[in-house]
Amino acid sequence: MVERLLEDLAATRDCGRDIAHGLRGGEILLLDGPLGAGKTSLAQGLAAGLEVKGAVTSPTFALCNRLLGRLELHHYDLYRVESLDQLRRIGFEESLECDAVVLVEWPRLALPLLRGRVRLLRLDHEGEARRLRMEELDAKELPELLEA
Ligand SMILES: Nc1ncnc2c1ncn2[C@@H]1O[C@H](COP(=O)(O)OP(=O)(O)O)[C@@H](O)[C@H]1O
Ligand SMILES: [Mg+2]
Repeated sequence: MVERLLEDLAATRDCGRDIAHGLRGGEILLLDGPLGAGKTSLAQGLAAGLEVKGAVTSPTFALCNRLLGRLELHHYDLYRVESLDQLRRIGFEESLECDAVVLVEWPRLALPLLRGRVRLLRLDHEGEARRLRMEELDAKELPELLEA
């Protein structure tokens, strides 16, 4: 488990950039944590690190943004996704099978579709700052770890 205290927005973005540098495609990154914890901000840093051009916006309404940089990045936000069926319809399984980096905010709904190794990135408020805890684990271990 890797832990980092992120003092401000810039630190969250930098942390996302750092994570991006180690990616080779095909990784599944689950961003867990309450509203405002910095999930989208981390995603923005990660996209910058992957050399995605242009603004990276929250996919809360779009549900998924597919972005292209050094690698493909599929950025999901499942907050408003209502069922596994809807998640399938927006192409989640295809994302898992291609070489894209798949980044998922509010990942709990996707649990039944996840297999093998995943990275869990948990963000929390800590005073005015944020704390990130990061670990790689098997998808089978997720149900006990993810927020409802
Ligand atoms: N490390 C940090 N310290 C303080 N504020 C942060 C930090 N990281 C991000 N923020 C701020 O938190 C707010 C919510 O961030 P956002 O990434 O939209 O959260 P989420 O996607 O988890 O809801 C934004 O205003 C952002 O600037
Ligand atoms: Mg968000």
